[in-house]
Amino acid sequence: MQVIETIAELRSARKAITGTVGLVPTMGYLHDGHLSLVEYARQENDVVIATIFVNPTQFAKGEDLETYPRDLPRDLGMLEGAGVDYVFTPTPALMYPEGYQTYVTVEKVTQGLEGAQRDGHFQGVATVVSKLFNLSQPDIAYFGQKDAQQVVVIRQFVRDLNVPVEIAICPIMRESDGLALSSRNVYLSTDERKVATVLYRSIQAVGNVYESGERNPNNLRRIAEDMIHAEQLADLNYVSIANPSTLEEITEATNTPLLLSLAAKVGQPRLLDNCLLPLALNNRADASKTLGIG
Ligand code: PAJ
Repeated sequence: MQVIETIAELRSARKAITGTVGLVPTMGYLHDGHLSLVEYARQENDVVIATIFVNPTQFAKGEDLETYPRDLPRDLGMLEGAGVDYVFTPTPALMYPEGYQTYVTVEKVTQGLEGAQRDGHFQGVATVVSKLFNLSQPDIAYFGQKDAQQVVVIRQFVRDLNVPVEIAICPIMRESDGLALSSRNVYLSTDERKVATVLYRSIQAVGNVYESGERNPNNLRRIAEDMIHAEQLADLNYVSIANPSTLEEITEATNTPLLLSLAAKVGQPRLLDNCLLPLALNNRADASKTLGIG
């Protein structure tokens, strides 16, 4: 595995590749969720490029940019073990040099959910991901359904800007009790860690009621809201039932697929989780057809 720290090196490595390239962008502090993306990329491409970059432009003011967990030696060991060929580990100064002034702004789909809570977050994501696409020119780029709005935003700019890349959406990897893996889970105290499963428990409860025929979006939302409100250590941000391709909030009962998204603060970290309804859609092939604009 080659660790690449400069743009010139990345460009020349890319030029020398003749086969297909799979790209896995990350902010590091890797866990099995990240590694599952690497595994898909490894299976489906001749060459795998991973990136580790804690991207300052996607952190809103007052967020955890400085304290975001980092462990580069450990991450490099994990990526090497997973069969990655190249890891790009740029510095902020390399990605945003003095005088930098160009940003990718995606409109409607960034306005709700995480976009409403985190000012400028998706502009930062779309900008850095588009730079990573330009630098590594992948055939397929791998993202987790865990950040469902992120994949919708990325698919939107890929379509709008005619970026020649396929976006693969990979299933959410979880702890054995259902908590979605996240680099920020390290912030949870022992008590908070127990409470954190409320997001997954809520998803299952809503999913079960949906499967038994409930279609009223207010009733579906209320099930999750009540469960999260019942936990004293959890501070609910939102429960959303939205159209999975446009992210517009659903107001009427419908049989078309839905995206249930939850966000709650448990102690310091904000935790996110989501699922598609019907639950049978939560696999790579169906999620890739259902989330965002393909
Ligand atoms: P990061 O949070 O490090 O996540 C990198 C990728 O791993 C994302 O596509 C994310 O959805 C996926 N991922 C995270 N947790 C997962 C889980 N439990 N199961 C499956 N996949 C999971 O997302 C980012 O970084 C950044 O916004 C980035 C795209 C790198 C741009 O800076």
